[in-house]
Amino acid sequence: PVPVIAIDGPTASGKGSIATAVAEALGFVCLDSGVLYRLTAWEALQQGVPLDDSDALTRLAADLPVTFAAGGIVLNGHVFDAAQLRTEAVGQAASTIAAIPSVREALFALQRSFRRAPGLVADGRDMGTVVFPDAPLKVFLTASAHSRAERRYKQLISQGIPAILADVFAELELRDARDTQRDVAALKPAPDAQLLDSTDLSLEQTVEAVLALWRQ
Ligand code: CDP
Repeated sequence: PVPVIAIDGPTASGKGSIATAVAEALGFVCLDSGVLYRLTAWEALQQGVPLDDSDALTRLAADLPVTFAAGGIVLNGHVFDAAQLRTEAVGQAASTIAAIPSVREALFALQRSFRRAPGLVADGRDMGTVVFPDAPLKVFLTASAHSRAERRYKQLISQGIPAILADVFAELELRDARDTQRDVAALKPAPDAQLLDSTDLSLEQTVEAVLALWRQ
């Protein structure tokens, strides 16, 4: 089977940047599974679908009018500016709808369709536990809440988005709580996952650590 490197972890643990760099180094395809939850949330907010209407949200997720081209995300036939998905409002809405089991199931096939030769690097919350349980390498990426909040804060400021560190920290704790306490696909390491704490590692060092695990 086509190999998968599953990278799971809490919000702002750097999963996305690490997954992108690892995929690039290996020439693998990359899946940011959070984008699918964010796109579903985005569509729900656009269409005014209430975030507790499971049936409507599940239909939205199942029929997500999205394709992934080299140039980026194409939604409803238009190239979509992915920066719009990174707002806190969309992130919180994504974590709310991600707690609905049928929404998660509706996104399984789409996620698995990214498994293409020569290999896939997939990041999210349940890549190693649910979506790709046979992945030959599973990494559970952690970092202290403090350092994650600081990184997210710096990222927002560098993008010209006004932010307050204390607010970023509070929102991060809220999302951590929701993602770890929910009944479905709660954030936890797969039994066979390698734990990687990046609190004191740079991005480059963390990427190297994942590549070293892959070469083992
Ligand atoms: O990294 P960050 O938490 O900021 O964002 P993300 O990975 O894009 O995920 C946004 C939300 O989608 C998370 O808070 C999760 O609740 C949900 N999610 C999920 O449930 N399962 C995944 N595989 C990916 C994301």
